[in-house]
Amino acid sequence: MAQDFLKQVLYTNEQIVNRCEELGSELSKIYEDKNPLIIGLLKGSVPFLAELIKHITVDMEIDFMDVSSYGDGTTSSGNVKIVKDLDISVTGRDIIIAEDIIDTGRTLKVVKELLLNRGAASVKVVCLLDKKERREALIEADIVGFTIPNEFVIGFGLDYAQKYRNLPYIGVLKEECYK
Ligand code: PRP
Repeated sequence: MAQDFLKQVLYTNEQIVNRCEELGSELSKIYEDKNPLIIGLLKGSVPFLAELIKHITVDMEIDFMDVSSYGDGTTSSGNVKIVKDLDISVTGRDIIIAEDIIDTGRTLKVVKELLLNRGAASVKVVCLLDKKERREALIEADIVGFTIPNEFVIGFGLDYAQKYRNLPYIGVLKEECYK
């Protein structure tokens, strides 16, 4: 079926699942004999986190946090507000933040610092997509699924105006759809 909003498919569902399998086995080695708490940042990280944990073989827990940055709507401003906080205490825990995408890195920097300030024993970051060339904050993911060019990506949790999160693949949105 023709998708009139789609410029190209960047990663098929099969490629994403295969990569999540690799990331999951890497994490399983790192956290052998530990009980990490995997934190998903709502809402974009949900499909990635759901796929990733299927491939993690060590005991683990999940929790979610919703943070929003108040800016112009398309880029994050670095002013991050907690909309929904965690249910589980992070004190003394080994944390894995699972992110769908790192763009400027501002959201992640604030959240990572917050978790460390709350007494997390360690914080690592795994992201599905890394838009490295857009980075403004001094932060990098520990484990990256795919490094992507500076294009407007949708699908597998990523939205444009809350739409397209349900696509099973990651695609590039046609410019005329958002300009
Ligand atoms: C997106 C994404 C990251 C953040 C990355 O979330 O899921 O959390 O932006 O941007 P940054 O690196 O420039 O800070 P968004 O705030 O759009 O919310 P969503 O997950 O609900 O789509």
